[in-house]
Amino acid sequence: MPKSQNTETDFSLIIGNILRRRQFIIGGGALSGTMLGLNPVVWGVEEASSRTALDFEAVSANSLDTVTVPRGHSWHIVASWGDPLWSYGQHFDEETRGSAQSQKFAFGDNNDGMELFATDTRIILAVNNEYVNLPIIYGNRSSGAPETSDDIKKGQAAVGITIMDISLLNGTWSITKDSPLNRRITAQTPTELTGPATGTELTITDLDPKGNSPLGTLSNCGSGRTPWNTYLSCEENFNLFFASSDPKHNLNDELRRYGITKTDRGYNWYRHDERFDISIHPNEVNRFGYIVELDPLNPNSIPKKHSALGRFKHENAAVVVNKDNRVVVYMGDDERGEFLYRFVSDSIFEPDGDNSKILESGSLYVAKFTDNKRGEWLELTAKSTGMKSQAEVCVHTRKAGSLVGATTMDRPEWVAVNPHDEGVYCCLTNNKNRGIKPNAGGDETPIGGPNPRPKNIYGQIIRWQPDENDHTNSHFSWDIFALAGNPHMHSGLNAGSSNINPDNIFNSPDGLAFDKRGRLWIQTDGNYSNAGDFSWMGNNQMLVADTNTGEIKRFLVGPKECEVTGITWSPDRKTMFVGIQHPGEHGHSHFPSGKESIPRSSIIAISRDDGQIIG
Ligand code: FEO
Ligand code: CA
Ligand code: CA
Repeated sequence: MPKSQNTETDFSLIIGNILRRRQFIIGGGALSGTMLGLNPVVWGVEEASSRTALDFEAVSANSLDTVTVPRGHSWHIVASWGDPLWSYGQHFDEETRGSAQSQKFAFGDNNDGMELFATDTRIILAVNNEYVNLPIIYGNRSSGAPETSDDIKKGQAAVGITIMDISLLNGTWSITKDSPLNRRITAQTPTELTGPATGTELTITDLDPKGNSPLGTLSNCGSGRTPWNTYLSCEENFNLFFASSDPKHNLNDELRRYGITKTDRGYNWYRHDERFDISIHPNEVNRFGYIVELDPLNPNSIPKKHSALGRFKHENAAVVVNKDNRVVVYMGDDERGEFLYRFVSDSIFEPDGDNSKILESGSLYVAKFTDNKRGEWLELTAKSTGMKSQAEVCVHTRKAGSLVGATTMDRPEWVAVNPHDEGVYCCLTNNKNRGIKPNAGGDETPIGGPNPRPKNIYGQIIRWQPDENDHTNSHFSWDIFALAGNPHMHSGLNAGSSNINPDNIFNSPDGLAFDKRGRLWIQTDGNYSNAGDFSWMGNNQMLVADTNTGEIKRFLVGPKECEVTGITWSPDRKTMFVGIQHPGEHGHSHFPSGKESIPRSSIIAISRDDGQIIG
């Protein structure tokens, strides 16, 4: 049966339901969907009635090699690493594990943050592909590492972003092959650099003398979306891809602060692609570590790297339109003892206007927390930091944060803003160095405030409320929403906060998102040994919280050795899409295909068996 027929039926149903709930539909700004004449659909926030109910039976922790969801729910695979997006692409081959050519036309590896974009005819998933699982994608090489030039090109094609049209047929979501919107963005895709760092001595290279056209994006971790329907992809651990062919190359403080090393981390890109050799192209590394914006509905759009939002190991981007219509973006820098940031746009969001340059200019701030549950945003400028220029602030942003005395945090991962009360939540995943070692810039990591435990192995979720509910206000109040811990093994702070109990324990909160009902979904990326301090926790998992009562319930357990990361919903909110990243990273999973198959990162779709709303 032609897929399009049924897809259209299912799709009309979805859109019909949206309209029946009287949610709103607006036209996109000038950036969105212009090429194909598509009309982006935006759906709103649900009214307060019973919005936070955790209406499911909690799942027990386990160490199974599958996905476990609550009774009355089902899941299936939507896409796995290596699945072709076009009918001329090659079916994933377990023997070869793909080639540069097949990977170019296929879903990338290690899916992470994702967002869904709907038009009146299509449903598009924009998904990050963070890095590559070296022992898996090169597991057929005797060294377990890339050996040939084709291997390197395969790796470069497996990172970046996948834009894929998906459709629902007989209750199953899958890739719509050959859609004109399907697209791969990789380490070799041209991008545009915007903002203060553009065309400066820090960003000019031999290959790009204007310093405005970085090639490629990588380490794409968490995501974000703008109210004007663009996708935000956040470059995190870019340091892993660089090395030096000259062992004597000077590793200066700027390189050390971001964890750049002279020795290769197993990718070997620098030997085959000199852009990644810091001794030949020292500025190339300054062109990664940004928030990348792109229009998933325009396959010809050039992704933009926005330097005004700073350069660090960006986790995700939580975007909110403030009451004065300026756009505020909250951002974490995931490294031990690094900082939390806020961007406030110069211009305002106009629903019917051209919003395409909003993220190109604005003010950048870093957070300082005080122990009296108050905090302050410190602006990062050449003047406040004593740095040479705003370009330097936007390239060496960590240093700028240190210079104004920002608070060193326990690895800030995703940030999410409650659509109902402007509260802002952030996962601080863990920090074994808390109270032991300074960060890479030499800043102390004192125990206290939002980072209350030495050698923090469990992590916590903090929240703050901007004064006057104004996200541009310099001041906020904060508290700890959940201090993860293990009441089976510990008392005191390592047992966790009062909303942690033997039935919902977890460690290392990472992914974080509110659904339209205002429930907070928490994804973990932590220790899955199920032993010692981590006994009874099982595999990585996903939980959901009622932020009014503090109640937290476990909703999902992932397969062995995975991280659960990335979450979004279908427009009718009857399907929740969740990312399962790096199952079997140490060789102990056969997810999703079972038997002796190699493990593959995948996106799953979860729905309720009664067909009701799930998010
Ligand atoms: Fe890519 Fe910090 O997670
Ligand atoms: Ca993460
Ligand atoms: Ca993590």
